Amino acid sequence: MKAPRKGGTWKRDTLLGHVGSDPEHEFGIINPPVYHASTVAFPTMAAQHEARKTPNDSFVYGRSGSPTSFAFEEAVNALEGGARTICVGSGLAAIVGAMLAFVSQGDHVLVCDSSYRPTRNLCENFLKRFGVNTSYYDPLIDGKGIAALIRPETKVIYVESPGSHSFEVQDVPAICEAAHKRGVKVIMDNTWSAGVFFKPFEHGVDVSVHAATKYFVGHSDTMLGTITGTTETIDALFDSIHVLGYNVAPDDAYLGLRGMRTLAVRIKRHETSTLKVAEWLAGRPEIERILHPAFASCPGHEFWKRDFTGSSGLFSVVLNKATPAAIEALVDRLELFALGGSWGGFESLVLPTNVARSAVPFAGDGRCVRFHVGLENPDDLIEDLGEGLAAFNAKL
Ligand SMILES: Cc1ncc(COP(=O)(O)O)c(C=O)c1O
Repeated sequence: MKAPRKGGTWKRDTLLGHVGSDPEHEFGIINPPVYHASTVAFPTMAAQHEARKTPNDSFVYGRSGSPTSFAFEEAVNALEGGARTICVGSGLAAIVGAMLAFVSQGDHVLVCDSSYRPTRNLCENFLKRFGVNTSYYDPLIDGKGIAALIRPETKVIYVESPGSHSFEVQDVPAICEAAHKRGVKVIMDNTWSAGVFFKPFEHGVDVSVHAATKYFVGHSDTMLGTITGTTETIDALFDSIHVLGYNVAPDDAYLGLRGMRTLAVRIKRHETSTLKVAEWLAGRPEIERILHPAFASCPGHEFWKRDFTGSSGLFSVVLNKATPAAIEALVDRLELFALGGSWGGFESLVLPTNVARSAVPFAGDGRCVRFHVGLENPDDLIEDLGEGLAAFNAKL
């Protein structure tokens, strides 16, 4: 595989363009081939025995990976800065696989109240059946606060920073410090930063998960997830993924790797366009608050300033006043913002959000709309939003 010269380093954009690529052994072809595989045949029993000793590093069976999925994993790991990355079939599979690596019957997990709804569903409707209890905590909690919530049976603190609907940025280093003092692992959903703007392992996180479906793939055409661990956590993660039988189709792994090649450029454009659109919205009389980590109005903005190096394309607004009919008129009038639940692709999206809460109320329910700013010209997007807000006002 291509790598910097001995003693040298590559900057992130360079790394993303080359890591996982091995043209020297692929007839000079830049992109790795897509290996479709189930059975892997061995020339001798001794060779099979040897490969089985290191199943996570060898090709023994299609389910446990192919050169194509290994190449994608290598690229993600280079970006995230962990010990190793495992790719799975979706972001939710990454969350489930990571969580199941560390919990057993009778254990307890602490989950941020701002977490993505299917994560709550995993806790409330699945882990509970197996005797694992969940408590939700205020995402703006400090180190002392989280330490007080840790029980003897707590095994995992789950962080999603920022929350992908309400956008609270968490004090991740303080949470990790408190967790590690009690032997608790911290799993973070790092999807919003695209792996580019937040370095989870430099801030103490033990496991970073991504909905690679979003910015890594970047083109709204593939479901993928990644789990990146430290040397202390990676074996437990591999065990969990093998037991669950998770597998990534080689074509999808290839599309993930292809997305990584342009990630640094795409995410910069998402960032600048989003800031322009959000600033325009901030000046509109209909808007009470912008929930974008780079804005002072966003809860936890100070942690974003301290720990992140930039911002991506997803944010919410809280409207001053709203009715369901007015929000419907806004959404339906928009031409460039499609109504859709995902994000991270080249296209702009809109989604009225209902934030699920257990620990702390969300001041904005029924008035919150989430936007993903795609790669279109931001001036066109602003014009579209002007039209949408006119329709909104007409229905208020
Ligand atoms: C923050 C976040 N994490 C995880 C996921 C799950 O990813 P996937 O849709 O690939 O299962 C999503 C999907 O919307 C998400 O927004």
